[in-house]
Amino acid sequence: MSRAARAVIDLDALRHNLQWAYTASPEARQFPVIKADAYGHGLLPVAQALTDADGFAVASLEEALVLREAGIQQPILLLEGFFHPDELVNIQQHRLDIVVHHAAQLDALESLVRQQDIVKPVTVWLKVDTGMHRLGFSLEAVSDAWARLRACDAVNQPPRLMTHLACADDFHSTRTQQQIESFYRVLPGVQAERSIANSAGILGWLGSHADIDRPGILLYGASPFLDETGADRRLRPVMTLRSELIAINACQAGDRVGYGGRWVCPEAMTVGVVSIGYGDGYPRHAPTGTPVLVNGVEVPLVGRVSMDMISVDLRGLPDAQVGDDVVLWGEGLPAETVARAVGTIAYELFCSVTARVPRNYV
Ligand SMILES: Cc1ncc(COP(=O)(O)O)c(C=O)c1O
Repeated sequence: MSRAARAVIDLDALRHNLQWAYTASPEARQFPVIKADAYGHGLLPVAQALTDADGFAVASLEEALVLREAGIQQPILLLEGFFHPDELVNIQQHRLDIVVHHAAQLDALESLVRQQDIVKPVTVWLKVDTGMHRLGFSLEAVSDAWARLRACDAVNQPPRLMTHLACADDFHSTRTQQQIESFYRVLPGVQAERSIANSAGILGWLGSHADIDRPGILLYGASPFLDETGADRRLRPVMTLRSELIAINACQAGDRVGYGGRWVCPEAMTVGVVSIGYGDGYPRHAPTGTPVLVNGVEVPLVGRVSMDMISVDLRGLPDAQVGDDVVLWGEGLPAETVARAVGTIAYELFCSVTARVPRNYV
């Protein structure tokens, strides 16, 4: 490995965070959300590490097939169901659960029964739109969808019911409680397993704990709540994006640093160059002042982020040397802190780490 940029993935921390979900929501089964390459942490290593999980949730058939081909046996839920009816053969063969959120999916399941002599029933999670207005049947349409699923031989009976929370990251929003109440008002008297909670629901909204939870970001050690870090919730960071100093430059007052010469040295000083850039997924729009840890000491990024490098102000670290350890986020520098400086969320930082950055599993 020639460049030092790497994402160190702490699988113990990952397991700790899953156990924390079980502790916070003790009655529920947990289906870790490992879509988008497990939020950039590596789909397969993450699934293989989480042997205690009751199931997994992913976004596509392709992701699910990677898991099945590697021998993962737990239930796997496709969070958007199928996009084309021709995916149903694989879904049946590989025992995948599907979200059904749209009438076209009901049509496809019904026509499957007409096409197949022997139908292998599929486990369906009927998605109810309780206020997010993204995916799901409206409160008015859900009874009809339920009746069609109950009558369909391609569906394991009874189907499950699920919804997704739009504002659970904000304790002050009244919409989460409204969504939970709406969800429990649909299909009164119907016996079905239910699923509501994402990470924010698990950690912050007791009423959202149902039969099955769907934790995502908390597994990776970041808090889903605004203005918090995972440590505030006793979560441990899983990904530490690390690199090294590859140059230290003695600059004079007035020297301009990086593309566009956007940052001007205010005095004679040392500027360090770190081997990380937007080609690795470090955000190009990170402004001057974004915190970076060099040898465990926080220093500010200066000037523009390049494809392979960033510059840092080393005035606070007179002894810094080429080869010194740098943390971009993770151990000692919460991803949430960096995300706030950059104007994004930890989810996006994790998912953006590019394929050229090796993942080192410890
Ligand atoms: C339907 C659904 N459930 C659960 C999750 C997990 O959310 P979080 O990462 O906030 O826990 C997601 C993530 O996008 C989702 O789309």
